Amino acid sequence: MGSSTPLVKAVKGMNDILPAEIARWHAVEGAFARAMQRQGYREVRTPYVEPTPLFVRAIGEATDVVEKEMYSFTRHDEPLTLRPEGTAGAIRAYVEHGVHNQEPVTRWYYLGPMFRAERPQRGRYRQFYQLGAECIGDPGPGCDAEMIDALAGFLREIGVAAPDVFINSIGSGDTRARYKDALVAALTPMKDELSADSQRRLATNPLRILDSKHPADAEAVARAPTILDFLSDADRAHWDELRRDLDALGTPYTVDPKLVRGLDYYTRTLFEIKGAYDKLGAGSTLLGGGRYDGMVKDLGGPEVPAIGFAAGLERLLIASDVEAPKSVVDVFVAPVGDGTQAAGLVLARDVRRAGLRCEVDTRKASMKAQLRRANALGARVCLILGDREVNQGVVEMKELAGHVQEAVARADVVARVAAVVASPVPEASPKEGGA
Ligand code: HAM
Repeated sequence: MGSSTPLVKAVKGMNDILPAEIARWHAVEGAFARAMQRQGYREVRTPYVEPTPLFVRAIGEATDVVEKEMYSFTRHDEPLTLRPEGTAGAIRAYVEHGVHNQEPVTRWYYLGPMFRAERPQRGRYRQFYQLGAECIGDPGPGCDAEMIDALAGFLREIGVAAPDVFINSIGSGDTRARYKDALVAALTPMKDELSADSQRRLATNPLRILDSKHPADAEAVARAPTILDFLSDADRAHWDELRRDLDALGTPYTVDPKLVRGLDYYTRTLFEIKGAYDKLGAGSTLLGGGRYDGMVKDLGGPEVPAIGFAAGLERLLIASDVEAPKSVVDVFVAPVGDGTQAAGLVLARDVRRAGLRCEVDTRKASMKAQLRRANALGARVCLILGDREVNQGVVEMKELAGHVQEAVARADVVARVAAVVASPVPEASPKEGGA
């Protein structure tokens, strides 16, 4: 019978991640945390909600994120925003807690949800998860090369085939100011050929025209000067050393002088890693990052350089071939018969105390239904307790893969089951009469 109660559905672009998928999430999150810890990074957790002015100041007023993608609201007269990215909050926390007084170099990583009111499509959501890190206090470029190399290694580790690394330098403030003038001077005579967005950006944020996806802009951009020709001596030395270090590490990369990225805080090194084009199409940027040497000072701290990156976790999962472990529990306890439930509860608790994952049937289901459940959960062993077994002080131990069953003394069963779970899974026995 149908119900007339209307369904409440999730917000568009915000997804439920159900347990069947979560195992792959755990696999990638775990690999990420281990990869970062191997490089001396420690996890930081900052609030999902921050004062709106933090993002306006750190990310820049003339960016898509701040102009049109933030979830902002007012509560108790305070303008607040659901964080669209993790860098601004991390640096706010760094400054607020005076971390620069405690250590010369700070390495933080984070993972968690971010919120942007973008048009949802495959690989682009309104609530999405980032894996990110910030290295604060080191001016690079060795630090930059190390980060890029480690990221390429991490992607390979989680089974992302052939990631493509793109790098660029947008120099420091002076370089950018000189380049902006040259770019505007080059594009202004072609203004009428540009897309409406780029015409507007010519006044507000000309660098963004470089990575416009609009076909009308491509030709004009191809004829414009590139920022690499404008680098100051210090910026050029930084850029040259970055490439030497990457060459020494053996990480392949492509120099893309049109790479600018959508956040205003960047200085010098910029990078993006793309991949899985067949699966991700336009959203194939797996991760992006760069140096932002001015943000600590802009947020009220001392002059401290920094570099970081963030990867879209959903995109990594689309691109990666990591497999989820199929098994939910190691052991299934099947009490069968009227007086066996309590013995089953005690046995399951003892199995868990030995560190194994265990589910016990408390539905009083049939033997057949319980075995079906044990198989569905991927249990290695089913421990069957009938009235006879309880009376005799034994448990029937059934290895589900090998179809082997034996009666084991109750006093020994936990140790026996632990040994079975720790041993390699036997090859599936050939079915009788099989092809
Ligand atoms: P971002 O390029 O804006 O950089 O985002 C980094 C990554 O997050 C993207 O490459 C993409 O994989 C993922 N991402 C962004 N928006 C979405 C979305 N709507 N849906 C799914 N995935 C998305 C930053 O956020 C900077 N905070 C990175 C950084 C850290 N730079 C320095 N430190």
